[in-house]
Amino acid sequence: MIALGSDHAGFPLKEAIKKYLESENIEYIDCGAYNTDSCDYPIQAEKTCLKVVGGECDKAVLCCGTGIGISMAANKVKGIRAACCSDYFSAKYTRMHNNANVLCLGARVIGEGAAIELVKVFLNTEFEGGRHQRRVDQLTELENRQ
Ligand code: RB5
Repeated sequence: MIALGSDHAGFPLKEAIKKYLESENIEYIDCGAYNTDSCDYPIQAEKTCLKVVGGECDKAVLCCGTGIGISMAANKVKGIRAACCSDYFSAKYTRMHNNANVLCLGARVIGEGAAIELVKVFLNTEFEGGRHQRRVDQLTELENRQ
């Protein structure tokens, strides 16, 4: 199960991602926004990320204008490793090396076609573990020290 979230700027891209997930029969929960009325990305990020840390969803995809604000907010939620990506390599390696559980996309930065390719590779790439597990554990320790 995938959690989806956006602010108003990311709403059109979120809708495009929904269409892609539906075409692949991938289940999702849409945590809003539900239209282009102005709303705040920290609130939207929290709502969506709680689905992941609560165990209802395995991963999330978040969209805002740049992808940056919503990724900053997502990374404030304990247990979230969010990556703001606009290229294929980063979307793949943040799964392989960082075990990222949230992909953040900038609706004003990349086109829908590129965004869907990033979603695909993000959802289909496994964490490599090994030496990367130690570093991901260090991220958790760092979080727990704050
Ligand atoms: C909204 O105008 C915009 O600031 C927001 O979507 C995002 O780009 C923030 O990082």
